[in-house]
Amino acid sequence: MTKPIIGIIGAGKLGTTLGKLLVEAGYPVLVSGSQSADKIQLTIDILVPGAESLTTEEVSKRADIVVLALPLSKYHQINTQPLEHKLLIDAMNYWWEIDGLEEVYSDAEQSSSERVQAYFKNSTVIKAFNHMGYHNLGDDARPNTHEDRKVILIAGDQVDAVSKVETIVDHIGFTPLHIGELKTGIILESGSPLFGASLGLEEVQEQLIISLKEIANN
Ligand SMILES: NC(=O)c1ccc[n+]([C@@H]2O[C@H](COP(=O)([O-])OP(=O)(O)OC[C@H]3O[C@@H](n4cnc5c(N)ncnc54)[C@H](OP(=O)(O)O)[C@@H]3O)[C@@H](O)[C@H]2O)c1
Repeated sequence: MTKPIIGIIGAGKLGTTLGKLLVEAGYPVLVSGSQSADKIQLTIDILVPGAESLTTEEVSKRADIVVLALPLSKYHQINTQPLEHKLLIDAMNYWWEIDGLEEVYSDAEQSSSERVQAYFKNSTVIKAFNHMGYHNLGDDARPNTHEDRKVILIAGDQVDAVSKVETIVDHIGFTPLHIGELKTGIILESGSPLFGASLGLEEVQEQLIISLKEIANN
């Protein structure tokens, strides 16, 4: 089956690591940074060989599925129109050193992905690739026959869209696990015990039960 074209907005540590795994898994990959394509060309040629460097507008138009791998405080800079009716994978986290101390990006009550969904209101936002650091993402990918495969947790409301993200996660070398709706994704964010986790299925499920109980009691 033909694989969807994956766009990655953000050519930094996460975007390039993920891009490399996607190219290796046979996906057509398009990557953009904050400026023109030639500014990231060399980076992409070296770190994501096989991917194409474009502007964000071009990536948004041409990709079937788009990963948001830019600082959380920058997503408002992206034009929503070419992304309408597309699946967006929100990999962004609030990081005050990068995003500043504005409350609009940090909220103990609401997942940042719910805000991202509200902004891209005619797209479908699924939260994934947030909790695992890029080093682990790059180093821990394993084929699905491997017994010690690490888990990537996914939060999202729409079953079809979640299923597409699960397939991508599996193809790049991780076990996908859907934890619930987008709002549940708050347990994957910085400050949560799952943030930074690169764990196998059993360990992740143990922590997940604790984290889900905590939000149910709050
Ligand atoms: N690093 C990790 O281990 C990790 C893990 C999971 C999730 N995340 C999340 O992933 C996101 C990216 O993290 P990172 O560590 O990869 O950051 P990074 O290395 O600083 O890269 C950020 C990238 O985003 C680009 N960017 C900034 N504003 C943009 C805009 N308006 N349009 C398009 N691209 C823009 C930057 O381009 P310029 O260089 O041209 O400004 C840069 O290529 C963050 O939200 C982070 O919390 C990171």
